[in-house]
Amino acid sequence: MARPDLVLTGGTVVSSTGAHRADLVVHQGRVAALQPSGSACAAAQVIDVSGRYLLPGLIDSHVHFRQPGLEHKEDWVHGSRAAVAGGVTTVIDMPNTRPPLSSPADAWTKHRLVDGASLVDYRFHAGVDPADVSRVAAFTGREAGSVKVFLSGHHTAPEVVRDPVALDRICGLLADRGLTMVCHAEHDDVFALLDRWRGEPGSARDYESHRPRTAGIVAVAQLIDLARRHGTRIHVLHVSGREEADLLTAAAAVGLPVSFEVTGHHLTFTDADIEGLGSLIRLRPAIRDPADRDRLWQAVLERHALTVGSDHAPHTLAEKRRPAAQAPPGLPGVQELLATLYTGLVARQPGAGPAQLLPIVVRLLAEGPAQLFKLEHRKGALEPGRDADVVVFDPTRADPGAPRRIHAKCGWSAYSGLDFQGTVELTLRRGMVAYRRGTDEDFFGTPGGIWL
Ligand code: NCD
Ligand code: ZN
Ligand code: ZN
Repeated sequence: MARPDLVLTGGTVVSSTGAHRADLVVHQGRVAALQPSGSACAAAQVIDVSGRYLLPGLIDSHVHFRQPGLEHKEDWVHGSRAAVAGGVTTVIDMPNTRPPLSSPADAWTKHRLVDGASLVDYRFHAGVDPADVSRVAAFTGREAGSVKVFLSGHHTAPEVVRDPVALDRICGLLADRGLTMVCHAEHDDVFALLDRWRGEPGSARDYESHRPRTAGIVAVAQLIDLARRHGTRIHVLHVSGREEADLLTAAAAVGLPVSFEVTGHHLTFTDADIEGLGSLIRLRPAIRDPADRDRLWQAVLERHALTVGSDHAPHTLAEKRRPAAQAPPGLPGVQELLATLYTGLVARQPGAGPAQLLPIVVRLLAEGPAQLFKLEHRKGALEPGRDADVVVFDPTRADPGAPRRIHAKCGWSAYSGLDFQGTVELTLRRGMVAYRRGTDEDFFGTPGGIWL
């Protein structure tokens, strides 16, 4: 091999199956080799990462970076800074922008907006035009390998598929084309029926009862039936309730092509937190009770969930402070994603150390999304030939009252005041420094993210 560009020496390299001391050799943006720790190697640059853990760059397959049209909430400059500060080097962005992404041409337009502004590599989920769902047939894997369907709507998600015949058609088209369906699975008729009966929520506290688990259970049952009839690959996003997790786990166990995501916020908060945080943790699906949160942690630990996503969905504080019925659901979370997952794992597995816990992180935040979204040839593991997206993680350091510095454009975090265990020191994207944690300020590299 020619003299490599970079070697990270003395660290512990984490995969989904374990953690091993090794030196990581990087050349021309890729992992060139993993060598026995301490083996001499004359690289152009050597970084000593003794005592730290090296994770593959994380993939957040559920972000709303809000461009085009909603730049007052978030944009790719800020969103991708928040991402790399949290160890995320690849994102898959959602289509509910203004205008929404509903054609291959829209994907190219978004790419032109993002190009030169993003610190992370990216892909897009395609959206569906409810007025003409056959338009999803125009997508090939180049523009979007996955299609997002909202089964219920809200302030920032007006494009809703309510007609069961249209949903059936979408599932058939996606199955034919080998595209994956990612789904906001709450059944809108259930909410409409309840709203007609008892009106809008009067306070943030009433929100859970106005947007209850019933709609999630009905939608998930419907999706399982669609997966059975069409063979469509369906990934249910942000599962919040224990019944949905049970149904999807059972369906996957009998061989149906379904899987699910859980989010950092549903793993962290329960309805008791609404008292203090109010509409900051107003979310769709809503934050539920401690037994639901326990079930989601079980899904994380027992391999029921395939991915963990942030559902980074920022709104301004002014929007969040509107009266309960008008405060839009969603919160920023891409920067906090790794920290919430790792902190929660430490709390729930007190006997385990980083060498046992970090492989779980790698499975859910790298390997799982890389597999599902067909990024495995480049992303998801620190193996020779794959992109040198690397997170240097120190599990011994803590961020009390974290996050220390908020990089999302909206400038607030629902996690402020909580204590995070573990810190991201350095993030490399294809061998280049994308983020370095600083004492007084953080350093960000050049926004050279590419469309994968
Ligand atoms: C998201 C948003 O604001 O775009 N909101 C949310 O509460 N999760 C959309 C979504 O994922 O449903
Ligand atoms: Zn959603
Ligand atoms: Zn979302």
